[in-house]
Amino acid sequence: MKRNNPAWLDNAVFYEIYPQSFNDTNGDGIGDINGITEKLDYIRELGCNAIWINPCFLSPFGDAGYDVQDYCTVAPRYGTNEDLVNLFNEAHKRDMHVILDLVPGHTSVEHEWFKKSAEPTRNEYSDRYIWTDSIWESTELHCLRGITQRDGSVALNFFSMQPALNYGYYKPSKSWHQAMDAEGPMATREAMKDVMRFWLGQGCDGFRVDMAGSLVKNDEDGKGTIALWQDFRKFLDREFPEAAIVSEWGEPDKSLLGGFHMDFLLHFGPSHYNDLFRCDEPYFSRRGKGSAKEFIAAYKENYDKTDGKGLICIPSGNHDMDRLARRLDYEEMKVAFAFLLSVPGAPFIYYGDEIGMRYVENLISVEGGYGRTGSRSPMQWNKTTNAGFSSAAKEKLYIKQDDSPDRPDAESQMKDENSLRSEIKRLIEVRMANPALQSNGRIEFLSDGYPLVYKRSCDEQEILVVINPANKPCEVCCDGKEIIYSAGADAALDSKKITINGAGAAFILL
Ligand code: NOJ
Repeated sequence: MKRNNPAWLDNAVFYEIYPQSFNDTNGDGIGDINGITEKLDYIRELGCNAIWINPCFLSPFGDAGYDVQDYCTVAPRYGTNEDLVNLFNEAHKRDMHVILDLVPGHTSVEHEWFKKSAEPTRNEYSDRYIWTDSIWESTELHCLRGITQRDGSVALNFFSMQPALNYGYYKPSKSWHQAMDAEGPMATREAMKDVMRFWLGQGCDGFRVDMAGSLVKNDEDGKGTIALWQDFRKFLDREFPEAAIVSEWGEPDKSLLGGFHMDFLLHFGPSHYNDLFRCDEPYFSRRGKGSAKEFIAAYKENYDKTDGKGLICIPSGNHDMDRLARRLDYEEMKVAFAFLLSVPGAPFIYYGDEIGMRYVENLISVEGGYGRTGSRSPMQWNKTTNAGFSSAAKEKLYIKQDDSPDRPDAESQMKDENSLRSEIKRLIEVRMANPALQSNGRIEFLSDGYPLVYKRSCDEQEILVVINPANKPCEVCCDGKEIIYSAGADAALDSKKITINGAGAAFILL
């Protein structure tokens, strides 16, 4: 097994938490840090040993906290910095790791850096963001202008209140383009290291990095941004060698070269991720009309380019995508999780996906969520008021909950051996018990149709994985020793042949 990462990533299984919607302990209708701490045992019981928390810092919340006002202060609605440090400590006691969300590409217009940068007279922060020389000139990106006294337009990174931090231009071509190594961009870089240093020094274990691939501008092939991250990684290796960073980039050959330990394959870019779970005919639907071919081809290409350099992570979903349950039913999701939990890289489970929480339709946008709002509704813990999420009045909840009478909840699923959650728990147990199935075990695809067949291997063992989403039985030749997992399927190991029912999966020790 080749490894270029902190050892704890070898068998890490992450659980993503959108803090607004996880668990409210003070009855104000919105989740909080102590609510996460209270549920660490729940997460651990599921089998996850790491968590990623979406931004929980001071913010005007125009983009759910991705518009940071102060990187080093927990938003009062979630609690205090002490609460967060307590969460780190409680997680470590349970042998769990916690990564925070780092948003290095932009801040909120409310950030002190921006306010100073927008002043008409030159100061320490004038070059912290990308400004043109005059209000009448625009940037290549969308820009904001006319709202401050500074005679210039400022580049935007995402929404209109998220001005782009200045890491420089790979190929500067205008008077106001600064080189990556100019004083302003270098100061931004150091300021971001200070942010990382602050939280890592308090016990945080790393970061998920927002829009990691777009920091340096005019950087078509990503060479400037790769060099920038190599510098960040050097800093981490020097000061915090156990810290891990995972990028929202979607091009592992670039991000892992830049020093990221992990990169996501997501719903954007050339990954074909949506073909599997989120299109009219997803590969994991029992109709069996989808295709995994292009996804597997893209995955293989990425894998071949990056094997041994870091991990490729395929999440069950996240706060930006439709819930898995919008297209797949419970049995289909079980098969999808058999795949997600048996591929290399660290798996990421989005809160609530373990119980098949639904996308809540027809919601009015909350905090810049727009179509994403329906995937961010409060966790359903049990059958009590507000599904156990909060004691606040229903109208006060951060986002409206799924109010269908048969909405899934964690408590019921924990009691039911046949539930999606129980299946996921079993899958994580099998993964944890078998090194070939973990982050660094090799993968070799033997088929990319129905069924999907691949071999996972490491020095100690070889495992054949058969994923059969379509609603018809399949037969696979194999000389296996033992079936270590089988679901939705009466997998039977006859002489050199295994039969698996429709919508099933089996892992066979070779
Ligand atoms: C990606 C984040 O996942 C998303 O939620 C956010 O709106 C944008 N980046 C901007 O930060």
